[in-house]
Amino acid sequence: MFPIQRPRRLRRSETLRALVRETVVRVDQLIYPVFIRPGTGMKQPVSSMPGIYQWSVDLLIEHLEEVFTQGVRSFLFFGIPVHKDSEGSEAYRPDGIVQLALQAVKERLPEAVLIADLCLCEYTDHGHCGILRDDQVDNDRTVDLLAKAAVVQARAGASVVAPSDMMDGRVTVIRKALDVAGFDEVPIMSYASKYASGFYGPFREAAENAPSFGDRRAYQMDPANRREALKEVFLDIEEGADMLIVKPALPYLDVLSDVRQAVQIPIAAYQVSGEYAMIKAAGQMGWIDERRVAEESLLSIKRAGADMIITYFAPEFARWSSEK
Ligand code: PBG
Repeated sequence: MFPIQRPRRLRRSETLRALVRETVVRVDQLIYPVFIRPGTGMKQPVSSMPGIYQWSVDLLIEHLEEVFTQGVRSFLFFGIPVHKDSEGSEAYRPDGIVQLALQAVKERLPEAVLIADLCLCEYTDHGHCGILRDDQVDNDRTVDLLAKAAVVQARAGASVVAPSDMMDGRVTVIRKALDVAGFDEVPIMSYASKYASGFYGPFREAAENAPSFGDRRAYQMDPANRREALKEVFLDIEEGADMLIVKPALPYLDVLSDVRQAVQIPIAAYQVSGEYAMIKAAGQMGWIDERRVAEESLLSIKRAGADMIITYFAPEFARWSSEK
């Protein structure tokens, strides 16, 4: 009679496996990050992220129309400004690059969810996520500027704002500013637990936001800390966050799982540039099967508890799914 339980019974055919499958990655829960640069007719490859480009607004619109048709409906906007300064002023100028892109894409794709990444690092000449006082980021002055930028983004058509700066207390101040300006229905998706990670390497080429001195360890979280993620998450919820982000994703699945168990609100996990680049590079070398590993990574992130996944693979995943 040995053995009574034979788990292999349910693995015998693909139809049976599909019937008992626990986790699914849905294309309409993927968020595709895009980089926008000034000019027209620009589609500039990011060398460390094959398949990812810096787009001028005109070509971005065409690209997103195509991606939208394939089923990816949510986009996260990053800007490479014309002009950087010590106060990151293009982040909160009405004619800043992301604001122009939001207006244009909203007009063409009114149903898309347009998420504005809210941070100063792309806009400051020193590349830090806020304004400096004696080589340290000044938390409270930065928060006021972020709130100003949030209102400008909402006015330009952002459906959601996503603060990624990791300043303390910013959700409270951003919420209040949005409400006062009449944007009480614009949700905040906060990067609640964002680690000071080496996996952001390729992003710094894509968004041209590498800090000119030092690093971000004085404001982003220490990779060694797991319990602290919950502290950050609860603070952001108390302050009014509608959705949370855990970032990076694959190296932090323990954190993601903890957060999933602790909170009720929707959670996004950010599969960051370095995660993408590693899969692409090993795939190009022929060392792994890119599609299989990409799909398995996204599935793992979902299985660990993410509702949504921010991923550079979004358009490819949509294409792969339609080929199945
Ligand atoms: C900006 C920001 C970063 C990322 C998203 N928003 C970079 C950083 O904090 O240095 C990284 C995303 C990625 O690596 O894909 N604050």
